[in-house]
Amino acid sequence: MTSGFIGIFDSGYGGLTILDGIRQRMPEYDYIYLGDNARAPYGTRSFDVVYDFTLQAVKKLFEMGCPLVILGCNTASAKALRSIQQKYLPKYAPDRRVLGVIRPTAEVVGKMSHTGHIGVLATEGTIKSQSYNLEIQKLHPNCTVVGQACPMWVPLVENNEFDKPGADYFVRDSLQKLLQQDPLIDTIILGCTHFPLLLNKINQQLAQLSTLNSQLSTPHIIPQGQYIAASLEDYLHRHPEMNQRLTQGGTCQYFTTESPTKFRESANLFLHEEVNVQHITLN
Ligand code: DGL
Repeated sequence: MTSGFIGIFDSGYGGLTILDGIRQRMPEYDYIYLGDNARAPYGTRSFDVVYDFTLQAVKKLFEMGCPLVILGCNTASAKALRSIQQKYLPKYAPDRRVLGVIRPTAEVVGKMSHTGHIGVLATEGTIKSQSYNLEIQKLHPNCTVVGQACPMWVPLVENNEFDKPGADYFVRDSLQKLLQQDPLIDTIILGCTHFPLLLNKINQQLAQLSTLNSQLSTPHIIPQGQYIAASLEDYLHRHPEMNQRLTQGGTCQYFTTESPTKFRESANLFLHEEVNVQHITLN
């Protein structure tokens, strides 16, 4: 049988939270994870650079035998997905598909908020792109969306500082800035795939902020993994022609553009299992 992997791409480790959600729901498929750790973070990079880097990764995953690639990265989904889908695929790879993480998240969030006031925490690139505001307002026109860039959060995760006391300041600071923009927020999207690693800190700080401010009820947090998994499962049901091309051996291979040893150590924190990692070059 020819190879038919589901490819999952992120700038670094963050996409492992998406991979984990997907594999928990659909362990039977074969996966390839590619982290561009050598060039992470993508969050502050320009549209053109994120597009070029993401396209290099997508092409590599196609070459490796993935008919379907998920951009497990909000920044790449915000800055590169539309151009890849509309310009690259029709011309160069009409039989392949690339999906992102923003639309599936936008679909569920409107149904979860009671006040209709939604907050987005993400990288500077995702916030500036306004992708969440546009998608949510298209799908749920009665919702109000405000975003807050958290430039320090990805470095805290990439450098394994996310559960250290130093992280508290940066988590609290961004949450306060978000809630000051709209105190009626009852639902917060973690719009960066690195952020679920900071969930304990986020919950602690939110609980403290709502104790200090009796007007504030603790908002509901949406990490993306489980929703992206449900959306992918639905996609494969609706696209049996793609589903048939995917092999089901239950395997997962990992590739990084940085040191495999470093990736292996950090991946353990995300996946709680030993992984076998290989180096890869993108250009
Ligand atoms: N994990 C990525 C995201 O979801 C981006 C992190 C970065 O490279 O800045 O946005």
